[in-house]
Amino acid sequence: ISLLPTDYSIRPLRRSDYSRGYLDVLRVLTTVGEISDEQWNKRYDWIASRNDEYYMLVVCDGTHRVVGTGSLIVERKFIHSLGMVGHIEDIAVEKGQQGKKLGLRIIQALDYVAAQVGCYKSILDCSEANEGFYVKCGFKRAGLEMAHYY
Ligand code: ACO
Repeated sequence: ISLLPTDYSIRPLRRSDYSRGYLDVLRVLTTVGEISDEQWNKRYDWIASRNDEYYMLVVCDGTHRVVGTGSLIVERKFIHSLGMVGHIEDIAVEKGQQGKKLGLRIIQALDYVAAQVGCYKSILDCSEANEGFYVKCGFKRAGLEMAHYY
C-alpha cells in the first residue's frame, strides 16, 4: 500500500469541498462548466443519498485543499449470481501534485472499497496515454470501449 505524503489525507467527498477546490481538480480531466452553489448542493445530495452505490474520495493537502479525487460506482447485476461490478471514474490529480503517488493511493482506496462491498472486478476506461498508470495500479487491458454521444 502506497502512503500519502505527510499532512495529506484521504476521505469521502463532503458538501463543503465545493469551496475547497474540488471542481478545479476535476478540470484537469475535462470540461466541468460553471456550477453554482445551489446546483452543487442538489447533485451532492442526490449522490450522498446513494451511499451504497457512489463512493467518492478526495485527497487533501496539509492546508485542507482538495488536490486529487476518484470515484467508484457499484453496479448490481443479475449475472454471476447477483454479482457486483465496480466502475472507477473521474480520477484526477491537480497538475502540480502529480507524480507523488496520489493517483495510485486513490486507486488503491477505491479498489479496497470495491473488494470490501463484494465486487468481483472493477473496470474503467482510459486513454492510451494513461495505460501505464493503470498497469502500475494492477489493471490490465481488457476489451474495447464504445461510446454513443447524444
Ligand atoms: N503513463 C505511465 N505511467 C504513469 C503515468 C502515465 N500517464 N502517470 C503516472 N504513471 C506512473 C508513475 O510514474 C508512478 O510510477 P512509479 O510507481 O514507477 O513511480 C505510478 O504510475 C503512480 O503514479 P502517481 O504518482 O500515483 O500518479 P499521479 O498521482 O500523477 O496520477 C493521473 C496519475 C491520475 C493519471 C494524473 O496524472 C492525472 O490526474 N492526469 C490528468 C487526468 C487524467 O487523465 N485522469 C485519468 C482519466 S481515466 C479515468 O478517470 C478512469
